[in-house]
Order: sequence, then C-alpha cells, then structure tokens
Amino acid sequence: MAVTGYEVTASKYRPKTFDELAGQEFVVSTIKNSLTSGHIAHAYLFSGPRGCGKTSAARILARSLNCEKGAEAGPCSGDGEICDNCRAISQGASMDVIEIDGASNNKVDEARQIIDEVLFPPQSGRYKVYIIDEVHMLTNQAFNALLKTIEEPPHYIVFIFATTELHKVPATIKSRCQQFNFRLIPIETIQETLKKICADKGIEAEDDALFWIARESTGSMRDAFTLFDQIASFSAGNIRSDLIREKLGITGLEKLNALADACAVNDTPAAFALTDEILSGGIALEQFVIDLTGFYRSLLLLKNGVTRESILGYRPALFSAKALETYDSIRLEQALDILLECYRNTRYSISPRFELETAISKLAWLSKWVSPFELKEAVDNARIALTTGNFSGGGSTAQASSYKNNSTPAPKNEAPTARVNANASNFGEERSLADAFNERIAANKNSSSSNETTTDDADVPMWNSINQDAKNPPQVENVLSKIPGTVIN
Ligand SMILES: Nc1ncnc2c1ncn2[C@@H]1O[C@H](COP(=O)(O)OP(=O)(O)O)[C@@H](O)[C@H]1O
Ligand SMILES: [Mg+2]
Ligand SMILES: [Zn+2]
Repeated sequence: MAVTGYEVTASKYRPKTFDELAGQEFVVSTIKNSLTSGHIAHAYLFSGPRGCGKTSAARILARSLNCEKGAEAGPCSGDGEICDNCRAISQGASMDVIEIDGASNNKVDEARQIIDEVLFPPQSGRYKVYIIDEVHMLTNQAFNALLKTIEEPPHYIVFIFATTELHKVPATIKSRCQQFNFRLIPIETIQETLKKICADKGIEAEDDALFWIARESTGSMRDAFTLFDQIASFSAGNIRSDLIREKLGITGLEKLNALADACAVNDTPAAFALTDEILSGGIALEQFVIDLTGFYRSLLLLKNGVTRESILGYRPALFSAKALETYDSIRLEQALDILLECYRNTRYSISPRFELETAISKLAWLSKWVSPFELKEAVDNARIALTTGNFSGGGSTAQASSYKNNSTPAPKNEAPTARVNANASNFGEERSLADAFNERIAANKNSSSSNETTTDDADVPMWNSINQDAKNPPQVENVLSKIPGTVIN
C-alpha cells in the first residue's frame, strides 16, 4: 500500500462539527442550545477521560463562536463552503484562537502573559478564545493570577479549559466556569464510527473485528483510532479477527472455550496440553492470563443474567455451554480469584509459567472445590442433625452440594431452616436451644402448610419429651442425652 500523504485516522477524522462528535449527546445539545440562544459563557470547563473529544469540542466551539455564518449556524462543515475564520482556526493559523498546553505553560508568568494579552480585542473574529488543555497542571499561583480575569474578562474573551483530572482543578476556578463532563464513548458507538471510516477508506472489515477494537479501546475514540491504524497496516484492506489474533498474539475464544471444557471435566492433562499449545503459539503469558481472566469473568456475568455483548466481549451463544452448565457462580468467582491472583503473582514469581500452571491445575479441579460458605453450612447442618437426631435425607452434605450446581444460592423454602442453622451454630452465645427448636418447628409447619414435604415431624414429640422437665431447662447436654447412643461425660 502506498503511504504517501498518509495521515493518522485520529487527526484525519477529528470531528469538525458538533454533529460529528460521537457519544457526547448531552454536552453537544447543551452547548448548541447556548449558542442558539446567545448565552455564551466566559469560561467553559470540559472534563472527562482521555480521547473522548474534549479538545475537539473546544475547537468546534471556538469555530462556532467565530464562524462568519454566525454562532447559531454552527461552524462550517467540511462539505460546503468554508469561511475564512473556520479555515484559519482549523489550520491553527487564527490569531483569535490561542491553544495553550497547560502542562508546559503552567507557571505564574505564563498566566500573567495571558492576562496582558486579553486586553487586545480579536482581529478578525467576534471572540478571542483561549483553549487551555490539561488545565489541572497549572500551579496554584497561576490559577490565582487568572481568577480575576476568568471572572470578569472583556466581553470578547472566552476561556475553554480541558482536563482529564477534574478533582485537581481548584474549586475557585470550577465555580467560575460552565462545566461539561465528557463520557467514555460506548463500544457500539465506537464500532459504528469505525464502520463509517472503513466505508470511507474502502477497507473491508468483519463486524467482530471492529467490535474487538472498540472493546479494547475502553471508551476512548483516540485509542480506537490508534489501534485501528495499527491493525489496518497489516490487514491489507481486509480487517479480520483471526488475523488480529495472530498478529497481536491474543487468545481466541475457541481456545479459551476448549480450555474451560477440559477444566470442566477435570481433565488436567488436556488443560496443560492446551496451555502449552497456546503459549508455544506465540501468545505472551501475561496476555494469556488477561484473556483467560476476562473469559471467566464473562462466564460469571452470563451465569448471572448479563447478556450484553458489549460487556461480555462476545455474543452469549459463543461461550462454552459445557462450562456454563458445569459451573455455578461460587465456582466462577473462585476461578476469577485464582486468575487475578495468578496475574499479581506472575510479577514477583521465580517463574511466571509456574504460577500459570498452578492456576490451570487449580482450575482443572474447580468443579470439586467447596467454598468456606458451603463448608460452614455443612457443619451447621451436621450440628443440627446431631442435636435433633434427625439424620434423614443424608443430612448436610447433600444439602450443601445441592447448592453447587445451582446458580441461586438457596432454594426459597429452605430459608427458615438456614436461619435456624445459623443460630444453632452459635454455641458460644447465650442463644437458647429452645428458640432454635421452636423456629425449626415453625419452619416445618410453614413448609407443610405450603404443601412442601417435611422430613422431621419427629421433632415435635422429641422436643416435648425434652421439654417435659420444666426445672431442667433444655441445654445441649440434655438434648444430646435424649438422642440414643450419645454418651455425655
Ligand atoms: N467523541 C468523539 N467523536 C469522534 N471522534 C472522537 C471523539 N473523541 C475523540 N475522537 C477522536 O480522537 C482524537 C482525539 O480526540 P480529542 O478531542 O483530542 O480527545 P481529548 O481531548 O478528550 O483527549 C480526535 O482527533 C478524534 O479523531
Ligand atoms: Mg485533549
Ligand atoms: Zn465558518
């Protein structure tokens, strides 16, 4: 491909009108309204993450203010005739629009220079506009020197401040500005913008590939354009997901699904073999951990009803059905814990690969892993079984393990029992066993009145026999003594 006169996408496609500014509808409509109603502020403060259009919007506003067609009509667009003022501002040649980088002109002297210059009216436009980028970098003295001027500048002066770190801008400055918060640009909007650019440049592109670029750029259009340029440069006019994965060393979803499948059936050898295949295929270990973590995160979200592709990274149907059916939220949370820790550990490890293999090994028996929560519940249930003599239904283990393959933690009708369990577990507390028993009986009554099957009707006569002796209030020993075969020393 010829590269003569090549201009990077970010500058070539810098929005020239408010309508081209993607994903900032609220900011755009408010500024447009103030322009049409003639309510021009002395100072604007644009804040928001990098690459989401602050500088672009500041330049569009400056052009609108000085456009020969009038501020209401908005600046000249690239399509029609461009007025002299708009052209000069676009080329950075206008004497009336002064762009200052706050990071390198942050001293009080520079602020004083602005204060002196402000006294000279604009040359060809209606306004003299100061755009101060990264304004949070100004020193306190510089801010203080500017305060008075910002508050009561000559009528032809407009300040537009932009910052990525709003919290570093002093309140005294903020309160004198009309503030606009720019937002991260939604993935779908970035994808659409990239699509238009492809059409404009005559580049073919898979939807999935553009979606991937949009997702990677995490809300920054500039990042999206930079990544797009990088990918376009090796794609020879045809942007495809498989080529991106190959060239950028990213683990594909098929590989991640295969690995999760192997882990779901506790096939550790297969999981190790796949890991080795992925790493020897040229994917960096760190990238692999990131991709795998993202994958398990998506499974966790899917399991909990999240289906938006922009959050999951891929369409829900593309994720391994086997893994989704094997794991519940508890196991998926644990997978994330294992992988996040693996990522942290790789930095300090004698061998990042050892860390990864340990994590993979843990993932391969994840389906058998039991959380402390479940363990506690099993112990509580065992305790209840011991104190009530009710060993029916295989007891606690069956109940705890029944939670495993269920995305909702506890079935509705078991809630009262669980509460009794929690009480019964507090042996150290002065919680009376009678209360626990009464609650349990009440729970049983509830469940039988709602036509649920009840397994421990035996509780009532047994409790009565324990409770007969009023002088001898029920204590753990008393209860245990009524259970056949229990020896109390
Ligand atoms: N909202 C947006 N709509 C379209 N393009 C954008 C948008 N935000 C940023 N860009 C692209 O990213 C580049 C950098 O944007 P810029 O306005 O300088 O971002 P910021 O000042 O917020 O860091 C622009 O040249 C433009 O190509
Ligand atoms: Mg900027
Ligand atoms: Zn114009």
